[in-house]
Amino acid sequence: MAEKLMPAEMRLLVTGGAGFIGANFCHYWRQRFPQGHLVVLDALTYAGNQASLAGLMNQAGFHFAEGDINDTPLVEKLLHEHKLNTIVHFAAESHVDRSIHDPDAFLHTNILGTHSLLRAARKVWLDAPGGVIPHRFHHISTDEVYGTLGPQDPPFREDTPYAPNSPYAASKAASDHLVRAYQHTYGLRTTTSNCSNNYGPYHFPEKLIPLVILNILHGRPLPIYGDGQQVRDWLFVEDHCQGIGLILERGEEGESYNIGGHNEWTNLDIVRLICELLDTAFAADSSLAQRFPHAAPAQGKAAERLISYVKDRPGHDRRYAIDASKIGRELGYTPQHSFAEGIRKTVDWYLQHSDWWQPLLGDAYAQWVQKQYAG
Ligand code: NAD
Ligand code: TYD
Repeated sequence: MAEKLMPAEMRLLVTGGAGFIGANFCHYWRQRFPQGHLVVLDALTYAGNQASLAGLMNQAGFHFAEGDINDTPLVEKLLHEHKLNTIVHFAAESHVDRSIHDPDAFLHTNILGTHSLLRAARKVWLDAPGGVIPHRFHHISTDEVYGTLGPQDPPFREDTPYAPNSPYAASKAASDHLVRAYQHTYGLRTTTSNCSNNYGPYHFPEKLIPLVILNILHGRPLPIYGDGQQVRDWLFVEDHCQGIGLILERGEEGESYNIGGHNEWTNLDIVRLICELLDTAFAADSSLAQRFPHAAPAQGKAAERLISYVKDRPGHDRRYAIDASKIGRELGYTPQHSFAEGIRKTVDWYLQHSDWWQPLLGDAYAQWVQKQYAG
């Protein structure tokens, strides 16, 4: 087995670092290793936002490159120029609903893009003229590759067979298989993590939790797909970043690790909880009603009155749940945030950062939301 790189020796290429989890990871990693070298490669799609990296952009040792992971020569150039020895691969099309409307972009980025990165890593690290360069390729994946669970089924383990149900999940499953194949065939030093639903700061407001927070603040309906009894296992994003950090540090080459929060909630209960939190926040702080005059609680109404049942998502997975015992046992992982703490922090973050989300609510976003919920 090849020797592991120590975190202080790692020079990182973070793909998708301007997205939700990638940006949180950059902040997390720079806090832990302020002297480290970190290059973000991000195509700045609708989901990428340089504002999420504010505070890092001008730091020594931090570089931002705008570009597509499918641009193999660009990836090779970055690996060479910055002497990068670690890829942490977040870049993806990540929204299930978009994958149902337009799967092509998911195949392009999630499958071909991952392959482009693997090819560049193989060329630069394995086929180097002076022999193999010590390296690590960490691939970020999702629990959605395992498909759906019944109410009594045990949670997903690393050996649960893959059964992806949406074009998004299928494209992520394909990328996981490519990573595995590059490790098995060429000896690329890879690890993969499959994580449950994340929530926290910098989350693009098309996903359930930020969408509900912002819709309450704007007095808009809170769309619940189908009966709202679908179950997700929510993890605070910083806890995901901690898990990735542990895998980079101690994870075994060729292994996959499930990361989750032991925190299953129905969608309806999550939405009700956020409604309660915002009602309480408005009751405690009268300045919120001035800042968000259209919010239901600013008008004396309970936010829950905005709940609106809409047509279900086609092929909607009923339940996800993660068994995270392997990463706990082997790498000493435990999430640091209770759900009560994480969701309160998240709601507060959105209340305090309208400067971050306001510019996202432009025409393109409004059109997408309108198309999504029409009928
Ligand atoms: P996101 O949609 O918020 O961010 C994706 C980022 O990738 C954006 O910055 C975007 O600009 C960039 N990107 C997209 N296509 C690109 C391309 N071709 N080249 C370069 N950059 C490109 O996604 P996220 O929620 O932060 O998810 C990050 C990763 O974590 C994804 O691989 C996703 O599958 C996985 N994941 C997400 C969750 C979750 O709950 N959000 C849970 C488990 C796993
Ligand atoms: P989402 O945040 O899109 O994550 P994922 O589909 O990857 O789990 O959705 C979380 C759950 O919330 C999922 O079961 C779909 C549901 N949902 C709604 O009921 N209404 C919405 O407006 C959205 C965006 C999601």
